[in-house]
Amino acid sequence: MPELLTPQPTRHPDPTTKATSLAYLVFERPDLDNAENFLRDFGLTVALRTTDTLYLRGTSAAPYCYRVHKADKPRFVGMGFTVGSHGDLETLARLPGAGAIEKVTHPGGGESVVLTDPSGFMVEVIEGQQEAEVLPRRPPLDWNCAGAALRINRTQRPAPEPPEVIRLGHCVIEVADYQATSAWYTQHLGLIPSDVQVLPDGSPAVTFFRLNLGDIPADHHTLAMAQGFMARYSHSAFELVDADAVGMGQRVLRERGWKHAWGLGRHILGSQIFDYWNDPWGDKHEHYCDGDLFTADHPMGVHPVSRDAMSQWGQPMPASFTRPKPDAAAMTALVRNLRTSPDISVSKLLTLAKLFG
Ligand SMILES: [Fe+2]
Repeated sequence: MPELLTPQPTRHPDPTTKATSLAYLVFERPDLDNAENFLRDFGLTVALRTTDTLYLRGTSAAPYCYRVHKADKPRFVGMGFTVGSHGDLETLARLPGAGAIEKVTHPGGGESVVLTDPSGFMVEVIEGQQEAEVLPRRPPLDWNCAGAALRINRTQRPAPEPPEVIRLGHCVIEVADYQATSAWYTQHLGLIPSDVQVLPDGSPAVTFFRLNLGDIPADHHTLAMAQGFMARYSHSAFELVDADAVGMGQRVLRERGWKHAWGLGRHILGSQIFDYWNDPWGDKHEHYCDGDLFTADHPMGVHPVSRDAMSQWGQPMPASFTRPKPDAAAMTALVRNLRTSPDISVSKLLTLAKLFG
């Protein structure tokens, strides 16, 4: 077994708050129509659209899980997490750089505090949001597993339509300042590392964090963090009801001309059956089902990182999946972060490039 030889990731003994859910993602896009077209085909439903903001939701009671602001340039802005009490907001509002507690004007209302993590991602923490009405969705299909048939004199015919997204499951970010960013989420939102994949030098390459919900089972990961040379969005993942929904999603997105990224397959860490698609700006969105659930007492796993460790079956992860867009902003960030970030070096980046390039 490899060893983790850095302070992070580790669970914090006394976190500032314990986030209760990942509520939504926030993006900026130059074209709301195009964003809406992709996200509808992906299986989300428009909750509200104003002249400059688009809100999408799944079928669960969350009033929205995806917010798009109209802007000149495409950008991932950050995430919204819920906490359990007004007191949590008061504690968070005292952190350095935190905004004041403010009334939320987005669907569901409530109150929020806006924070910025050490890698520059916005983190809105909300409390008191009103639930929306649950939307109808297809129930899981009955499978005739060998020796356990559920379907007699009936066929299997899921509709050839966008699969209904139930909810936002997780978001994955790449960061240069790994130790500081991991320490921030474990300390202030109480996230627990479920599994970490380490490089040969014992430093983390990818950590999968879950919510600390005590005895209530939580998704294997709600946030994941990969070591990169700059802060950027990797992907977000949305839960579907079953594997046929994931497969039907692939058919529908392909027929409608969207760009495939990776899948189908089944992950190892988290165990989800997955399929990844690029949105119109090349940002990856994952359909998944059948993920692992851990309670708070489950210990952290440590594993060697490799391309093969990303799935147990299915299409191998293509090199394009982890390759950054080689634009001027990326080159500037690379040069700057090599000078300033304590967590990256030329040799570490070469190791990562060899593993994933
Ligand atoms: Fe994922």
